[in-house]
Amino acid sequence: MSAAPYFWVVIPAAGVGSRMRADRPKQYLQLAGRSILEHTLDCFIGHPGLRGLVVSLAGDDPYWPSLRCASDPRIQRADGGVERADSVLGGLRTLNELGADTDDWVLVHDAARPNLMRSDLDKLLAELATDPVGGLLAVPVRDTLKRAGSDGRVRETIDRSVIWQAYTPQMFRFGALQNALAGALAAEVAITDEASAIEWAGQSPRLIEGRADNLKITRPEDLQWLEQRWKS
Ligand code: C5P
Repeated sequence: MSAAPYFWVVIPAAGVGSRMRADRPKQYLQLAGRSILEHTLDCFIGHPGLRGLVVSLAGDDPYWPSLRCASDPRIQRADGGVERADSVLGGLRTLNELGADTDDWVLVHDAARPNLMRSDLDKLLAELATDPVGGLLAVPVRDTLKRAGSDGRVRETIDRSVIWQAYTPQMFRFGALQNALAGALAAEVAITDEASAIEWAGQSPRLIEGRADNLKITRPEDLQWLEQRWKS
């Protein structure tokens, strides 16, 4: 019998985040005195269940070296790429160099989700550890959903009971994730998260209900909301 698989983490942080309309990529904007990326890393650094942590960065990233965590020996740097999937694949290449095995688990978490709670992370690790496929944190939608026509008018109301919002971390086996991402990229399939690559490869990721406040900072008001929330 082979040894128990390890758990590794990839944080893709090579995006630009243009919807923030800021002077720098959103993961480097300040939140409660530190960068968003540093808050995001907090939940993982020192977690006893995790074997290693990799951050995928743009080649010309001038911000990372000035962060205190850049010299933390528990964090490895990887090469980001044009698409998010390229950045995750860059992270997987570095994990491979660190000794990750094909059956090990890899958790991929957005750099711009700084409000992940340890309880949600531990729930994901515990619920999926024996799953044959893996899965993701997700949240059932709350609002009524409408499909729009090109004229800006409602075409139909969608049954929301089966619709979930895909969050991160997303957790899959190293080998399966690498094959799915590389295959989907080669086939020029649009993939916006790791689960969509796994789905493209013919498997069904499990949805693990997480907290709605594990939000991805996308617009300026998201940052203001979190800043207020942490103050109170
Ligand atoms: O732009 P979006 O919010 O969907 O990005 C999600 C995550 O993917 C962010 O952490 C971003 O930095 C990362 N990303 C990346 N490389 C890219 C594009 C996005 O690492 N080329």
